[in-house]
Amino acid sequence: MTIPFDLKNSIRTIPDYPKPGIMFRDITTMLGDARAFRCAIDELVQPWSGAKIDKVAGMEARGFILGGAVAHQLSAGFVPIRKKGKLPHTTVKIAYSLEYGLDEMEIHDDAVVAGERVILVDDLIATGGTATGAIQLLKQIGADVVAACFVIDLPALGGAKKIEDLGVPVRTLMSFD
Ligand code: PRP
Ligand code: ADE
Repeated sequence: MTIPFDLKNSIRTIPDYPKPGIMFRDITTMLGDARAFRCAIDELVQPWSGAKIDKVAGMEARGFILGGAVAHQLSAGFVPIRKKGKLPHTTVKIAYSLEYGLDEMEIHDDAVVAGERVILVDDLIATGGTATGAIQLLKQIGADVVAACFVIDLPALGGAKKIEDLGVPVRTLMSFD
């Protein structure tokens, strides 16, 4: 898709973080730029204005910042998907891998009512390991996952295709080689 010129420029790249060989796409510079932050949220929300979206789910930590703002704009609820050990009520848990590691994440088992329409929001999709795990958790608790939305796609790592192959449409605002 076409996005305003300065949105991509608002993202900073840090080579070799958190491990050698990783080009880390740092959104803190975008978040700190009021115009860029507003633009990113508007672009994420745009396909869903007027649609029935019950909840937005976001993955800790960067997905909380973007997903919370998107949920507010859509007058939807927000569902946090957290790294292990942080949620106080009964949870469903999954192990997953990402571009630079392994982890576990959890969701409250009562975070959605069966059949609720949910969109997943995160800053970036790389291997798709995080998003795949999040979609599995959401489906396990009865959500209808209608789309997954990201600011940044790293297409060389194949994550967006993996999510589309699960039958969940993907929207991304920009890509980095
Ligand atoms: C980052 C990013 C995505 C995930 C993408 O999160 O915010 O959630 O990696 O990688 P993948 O597509 O290979 O799974 P990270 O786990 O670094 O957590 P953070 O937001 O707490 O920094
Ligand atoms: N999460 C996974 N891969 C990433 C990358 N290259 N930059 C920022 N966050 C990431």
